Formats: sequence, structure tokens, C-alpha cells
Amino acid sequence: MKIINSIVAMQALAIAPEREGRRIALVPTMGFLHEGHASLLRHGRSLGDVLVLSIFVNPIQFGQNEDLDRYPRDVERDCRIAEACGVDIVFMPTAAEVYPPGFQTGVSVRNLSLPLCGASRPGHFEGVATVVAKLFNIVRPDVALFGTKDYQQLAVIRRMTGDLNMPVEIIGMPIVREADGVAMSSRNAYLSPFERQSATCLMRALIHAREMFAAGERSVAILLNETRAVIEKEASAVIDYIEFREGSTLQELEVADDSTLLALAVKIGKTRLIDNTVLGEEL
Ligand code: PAF
Repeated sequence: MKIINSIVAMQALAIAPEREGRRIALVPTMGFLHEGHASLLRHGRSLGDVLVLSIFVNPIQFGQNEDLDRYPRDVERDCRIAEACGVDIVFMPTAAEVYPPGFQTGVSVRNLSLPLCGASRPGHFEGVATVVAKLFNIVRPDVALFGTKDYQQLAVIRRMTGDLNMPVEIIGMPIVREADGVAMSSRNAYLSPFERQSATCLMRALIHAREMFAAGERSVAILLNETRAVIEKEASAVIDYIEFREGSTLQELEVADDSTLLALAVKIGKTRLIDNTVLGEEL
């Protein structure tokens, strides 16, 4: 497994497979890998001849008062996981090289970036789209894999690659959950044992909404109230948003159907967690 820090070196390594028709699979991450990332890497291994993991805590997708400085990092552990998942190249550029002085270009996927996490985190998706576009230009993957826990991020990236004719196939992989249903996230590391227990309210709320939908409830107003009630029972939980949206355009809805996305963002103590489900798909 090679560890590459420089952009020029990574670009040079990507040329040979491209010429020889070997497929490059890329899993872009911010590190502090967990089983969710490992599932992307294992699937990426089966799709590509060369498997690249990028680790880069992207400063421009964090807001002023967000957790950029305390975002968890453990590169040695990440490399052990990468090796076990069959990664060929770990690409870990520095922020100084990714954003040199004078950098001023941004990729904005306008409408899809506005609601949900985009409303609470202005600029976040422009930061994500910009770095992912750069990673695609540097690594030149044939296929790139992302988790559906960041459902809106995946929608933004799919739109960007389509709109800008980027020759890369985007694969969305199912959410990986802990035994108690909490979605795996690097940010779970911030939770105290008590908060970790409270975090199960997101999954309980998703399950409750899904059960009501399965029993025939289609009114978004009613589903919303029911979902909110589950979270509000949890004393340490503060709702950022609970939204039912059309699964591909993310537009607002009054009547739910199988393709409806239920997306949640909830603060447990100081930690903001997100989770989601599509009502007609498996959890
Ligand atoms: O999902 C993430 O870890 C990040 O948002 C991504 C896609 C690696 C861009 O920085």
C-alpha cells in the first residue's frame, strides 16, 4: 500500500491505469474510519483494479463555529483499516496544497444545496462539491463510492457529476449501523456514554415513522408530528430539522410515498448527528 501526500505524485500514479484500461475506484473520506467506510472500501475493492482511499479533513466544508479543529483524527489506525480492506493507495494531501494562496474557485450545486443540512450549514455543500471535484481531477476515478448516511451530499455529488459531465460512476452504499441502530459516524466519538445512549432516539424516530407509513399513514404533517414526538422525549436531544422530502429532488411534500426521504439532524449535547431513511426501502 502506497501513501501519497503530493497532488502531482497522485496524478502521476493515476496515469498508468488510465492508459492501460485498468479501473480506478475512489473512496473519499475525512479519515477516522469506521465500519461504514470499510464497507465502501470492500465494495470499491470489487469494482476497481486500483483502489484509492483519500483522507482529507476539508476545511472549506466546515462553518466558522463547527468542529474543524477537533475533528477526530487517527491516521495510523486508518492505514491499518485501509490495508485490511485491500487499499492500494492512500492519498492524504495537505490543506496548504489543496488550497494554495489565491485559490478562489467553487462548485455550487444550487438548489439541492439549499434545504436540510444546507440550511443549517451555509456553504457546506459548496465546500464538499469543490473538494470532490478536485479529488476527481487528481485521482481520475472510474467509480467513486459514498455512504447514504450523507444522503443530501450524495444527491449533490450525483448532480454535479451529471451536470459537469464528469466521467465517473457514483455508487451510494447503505448506512452501516451499530448493534443498537445508531448510524456509524466519525462524530459518534464525541458522545459521552450517556449521550451515546440518547443518540438511539434518531433510529427510534425513523422506525416509528416507517411503521406508521407501513400501516398506511401518508400525511406528512402527521408523520412529522409523530417523528418529532419520539425525539422530543429524549431530554438531551435538540432538533435541528426533521423533514420529509422527495427522494431525488429533495423538494417539500405533503403526501408521502415509497420514494419519500425522511431526514433528521439532531444535536445530542454539542454533537450534531444526522440519519435518514427512504420510506419504501429497507432501513
Ligand atoms: O463524507 C465525507 O467524509 C466528506 O464530506 C467528503 C465526501 C470526503 C468530502 O470532504
